[in-house]
Amino acid sequence: MQIHSAEFVISNTDVGKCPKDPIPEYAFIGRSNVGKSSLINMITNRKGLAKTSGTPGKTQLINHFRMDNRWFLVDLPGYGYARVSKKQRKGFQKLITDYFEKRKQLVCAFVLIDLRLEPQKTDLEFMYWLGTNSIPFTIVFTKADKLKPAAVSRKTGEYLQKLTEDAWEEAPPHIVTSAQNGTGKDELLGYIEHINQQ
Ligand code: GTP
Ligand code: MG
Repeated sequence: MQIHSAEFVISNTDVGKCPKDPIPEYAFIGRSNVGKSSLINMITNRKGLAKTSGTPGKTQLINHFRMDNRWFLVDLPGYGYARVSKKQRKGFQKLITDYFEKRKQLVCAFVLIDLRLEPQKTDLEFMYWLGTNSIPFTIVFTKADKLKPAAVSRKTGEYLQKLTEDAWEEAPPHIVTSAQNGTGKDELLGYIEHINQQ
């Protein structure tokens, strides 16, 4: 699948004000700086569509983008960012949990994970929370360009094994990506297209 039109629709702090169109929605979520906004720009071929930054905490709102008038892509704020105030951090959490609890159009969350780090408590807790709330998710490993291919395979295997040891009978689906060199673009778009056609 290629995306022909990618259009910014609205940014919100209030889930109730998100677009009402009854079309499928896919959300990108993960720790601050993991590469959510960069990945959105990569799969849409639009460099500045979602705002990116080397400073964690760039995305602070729920951002809706309409793709080919058929589905929504959502850029969410990161979780687990230690340098924002406690009050603000709580706000992020509520914004994020509200979004996932209330957004009925959501068909799949993409949980972004930086493969270079050991499994992080916040990520594991977040996926567990999605699981207990029956919210379907797929893991997207990011920044694959920063590791050699053999290390990518090894780290991916270790990560998925950790999940099955901890909480899951079966590891969730996963996709390896790099916003820098385009790895995983076709797989991710094909995955979305496949769900859209069901
Ligand atoms: P918040 O909005 O702050 O939660 O961050 P985010 O998850 O949206 O991350 P963002 O896309 O802004 O990227 C954070 C930093 O990581 C930027 O400096 C990006 O250039 C860099 N980055 C993102 N994806 C990749 C990647 O695939 N490879 C490399 N090498 N760097 C990346
Ligand atoms: Mg962002």
